[in-house]
Amino acid sequence: VTPAGLAVERLTRWADDFPTPGVRFADLTPVFADAEGLRLVIDALAEAGRDADVVAGIDARGFLLGAGVALALNTGVIAVRKAGKLPPPVHRQSYALEYGTAELEISADGIALAGRRVLVVDDVLATGGTLEAAAELLTRCGAEVVGAAVVLEVEALGGRKRWNHGPLTTLGSVQ
Ligand code: PRP
Repeated sequence: VTPAGLAVERLTRWADDFPTPGVRFADLTPVFADAEGLRLVIDALAEAGRDADVVAGIDARGFLLGAGVALALNTGVIAVRKAGKLPPPVHRQSYALEYGTAELEISADGIALAGRRVLVVDDVLATGGTLEAAAELLTRCGAEVVGAAVVLEVEALGGRKRWNHGPLTTLGSVQ
């Protein structure tokens, strides 16, 4: 286990039956609130993205990480947002949730994505639907997704199997 993985293990707070009964929610807030935890996590995520020339952070906790990783890599950061937060024009991607669907959006104005080498960053990989949808969206915009870096992977939900866009780095995992 790496120092970043140890910090994640030590500081993650687990909440049972949140947001719905039967779900065990991984709250990484204490990891990010800890100066050493944040530094270790950002550096380890950035290590996974040395080939990237821009970072994409996923709404909402991926934003906290994306900006830090971008600074560490000397790149910019792009917000991949939940639907309805960005003014038009936007690029949009739908994806399946356990119940119903959701949408991710990227601004279609003012960001040049064609040919950009993107590292996708988020806090938790669960079913993998969100991460895969973000990568699909970026790819449709002409970007080359060079990989993803996520803090914590919930292995039993099989998200890794859904990922189709290069190396997927996770710093810690739980069953
Ligand atoms: C969580 C998490 C990931 C996603 C992972 O976000 O931050 O983005 O779920 O789930 P998946 O692998 O099953 O797609 P959430 O939907 O709770 O949104 P929030 O960050 O806006 O609270």
